[in-house]
Amino acid sequence: MQAIVLAAGIGERMHSSRPKVLHEIFGRPILDYVLEVLADLGIRRAKVVIGHGGEQVRSFLKKRGAFPRTEVVYQRHQKGTGHAVICAKKSFRGYQGDILIWPGDMPLLKRETLEAFLGAHRNAKADASVLSSLQADPAGYGRILRAGGRFYAIREELDASEIERRIQEVNSGIYLFKSKQLFEALRRIKPSNRKNEFYLTDTIEVLYRSKARLEAFPLALPDEGHGINSRQDLGEVIGIMKNREIQKHQAAGVTFVAPDQTFVAPGVSIGKDTVIYPWSYIESGVKIGKDCEIGPFAKIRKGTSIGDGAVVGSFVELNRSRLGKKVLAKHLTYLGDAQIGDDTNIGAGTITANYDGKRKHKTKIGKKVLIGSDTVFVAPVTVGDRARTGAGSVITRGSKIKKGELVAGVPARSLKRKG
Ligand code: UD1
Ligand code: CA
Repeated sequence: MQAIVLAAGIGERMHSSRPKVLHEIFGRPILDYVLEVLADLGIRRAKVVIGHGGEQVRSFLKKRGAFPRTEVVYQRHQKGTGHAVICAKKSFRGYQGDILIWPGDMPLLKRETLEAFLGAHRNAKADASVLSSLQADPAGYGRILRAGGRFYAIREELDASEIERRIQEVNSGIYLFKSKQLFEALRRIKPSNRKNEFYLTDTIEVLYRSKARLEAFPLALPDEGHGINSRQDLGEVIGIMKNREIQKHQAAGVTFVAPDQTFVAPGVSIGKDTVIYPWSYIESGVKIGKDCEIGPFAKIRKGTSIGDGAVVGSFVELNRSRLGKKVLAKHLTYLGDAQIGDDTNIGAGTITANYDGKRKHKTKIGKKVLIGSDTVFVAPVTVGDRARTGAGSVITRGSKIKKGELVAGVPARSLKRKG
């Protein structure tokens, strides 16, 4: 199967200087989610139609390593979704199979759903199938028109009558077309609508008149059909995605004290019986062990892993850091590029000064270390097992604190330990 991703639109309703498909959800562009699912489906040669902000989209694709497999098609003037598909026609010369069309602004669709859609389309031997969804508030979407149950057209909101507007079955914007039928129908659509655009959706009525087999299959979960047209949509989609993740972790044995007030990106792993307190923000790729306590107000950034039984408390930020088992960092701390051994206690207010203005440096702290409150580590620094720092110590750059050593002061010096 082949696929076209539509990503040339101006995204007017976003009121942004950035192309819509490059707006981010948990640090990844909307388009990235679409391409990921396509690759999971085994479609690695998607044609992406770009235009508005095309250079930015292209450089994102390049950075993502999408080339040479992905093909970019330019739509110089955005004359509508139908016109966008016409622009990709050349790439399908000689191709007879099905074409999946996916607007680049719909990142919630799951692979399993698309597989079921493809199965239904093939079972029905349809020439064109649309993935529809039932929306309590259908405003903004194209409506699915049926006569005696049979799907025959899609009516855009602006062109719909009062009665048509009440229809709650809407076009998700995902289609499967037989290649030949698609391009034949596209030759016959006209921009005779309120927006004066060539609507892809008008191909349905054209195909209906030529007696083609048409189907509209409603999505089981309408959430997946949520597109992004405005900042409000973007906020809603982020919320849906975050809730999906939290529900997945809950099902696997993680407690969220306030799920609505917690942010967990996709691609996070959390062990059983860990409790996450409100207002914590956990980025993609983070690994948290079992029996941990996180938050309230913890920010856990990329590249961080936390061992079993650790506590990361209020106003603690972790970045590219590895915490061992039962590490306690309970209050007001920044640990960046740090590696902390098992059973170490990080006192309140501890900071790793990991950035010298040019480069990031590492802080390595051993096992069973006791870090006094308000210690600053000017990285690079290493601290041996069972060492201690006094409250308010500044451990200067390049320091190597030995096993069991006690240091204190500004700059920190070695002290004799009593007993
Ligand atoms: C479209 C559908 C509507 C459906 C909705 C689902 C049409 C006419 N309408 O409306 O029935 O309910 O999606 O979300 O298709 N694009 C281009 N070139 C263009 C215009 C658009 O590449 O000239 C791209 C956009 O970047 C976007 C996608 O096509 O990714 C959809 O365009 P958009 O303007 O968002 O269409 P909707 O108004 O949402
Ligand atoms: Ca849209």
